[in-house]
Amino acid sequence: MEKLPIAVLASGRGSNFQAILDAIDSGECAAEVKVFITDNPEAKAIERANTKNIPVEVIDKKEIKDREQFDLKIKKKLDEYKAGLVVLAGYMRIIKSKELLDAYKYKIINIHPSLLPAFKGTTNAQHEAYDYGCKVSGLTIHFVTDDVDGGPIIYQEAIDISGCKSGDEVAAKIIEHEHKAYPKVVDSFAKGNYVVEGKHVVYAER
Ligand code: GRF
Repeated sequence: MEKLPIAVLASGRGSNFQAILDAIDSGECAAEVKVFITDNPEAKAIERANTKNIPVEVIDKKEIKDREQFDLKIKKKLDEYKAGLVVLAGYMRIIKSKELLDAYKYKIINIHPSLLPAFKGTTNAQHEAYDYGCKVSGLTIHFVTDDVDGGPIIYQEAIDISGCKSGDEVAAKIIEHEHKAYPKVVDSFAKGNYVVEGKHVVYAER
């Protein structure tokens, strides 16, 4: 089967990136990472790409202050590597460029550690869910649009956090689920089509 060419963007640790690489290796995810792109030259995720001989493109946020210019550099790389899907995996920058968003409409996905729209637009959703006293939180994989964390939802999972004693425990519990869910969704992309009808995402196998 033909593999889906993907680009992965991450700013830090990259454990979701690793989960995708592992699933590709074990044949559970029919994708091929064509390029790894980061805004952070210190990102641990770079090592993960190097280990697999995946091309790494560092577009340093400290060097390019203009947001449009920054995003257009990203777009250039996505075009160059012919990304069929762009996977944000702990990428800590909001994509602002309409040109980039339009060119990759419904081809950019993100994972967020809450049941959206709860704890939307925060980088600390797991701790906020704990502090709020939530008994259930979860994860959401969604399309990226100009509405931050508000694009059409592809996949969600509810996770019981009632036994957790801290925000860190919530984060640890949710990330385990993220590592299973994200490669599966990427694999579904490789095998079918996600069609967006308004806020609703419908899946059809090819
Ligand atoms: C994850 O919790 C993800 O939901 C959020 O950023 C975190 C990235 O973790 N968007 P990692 O870099 O994949 O370990």
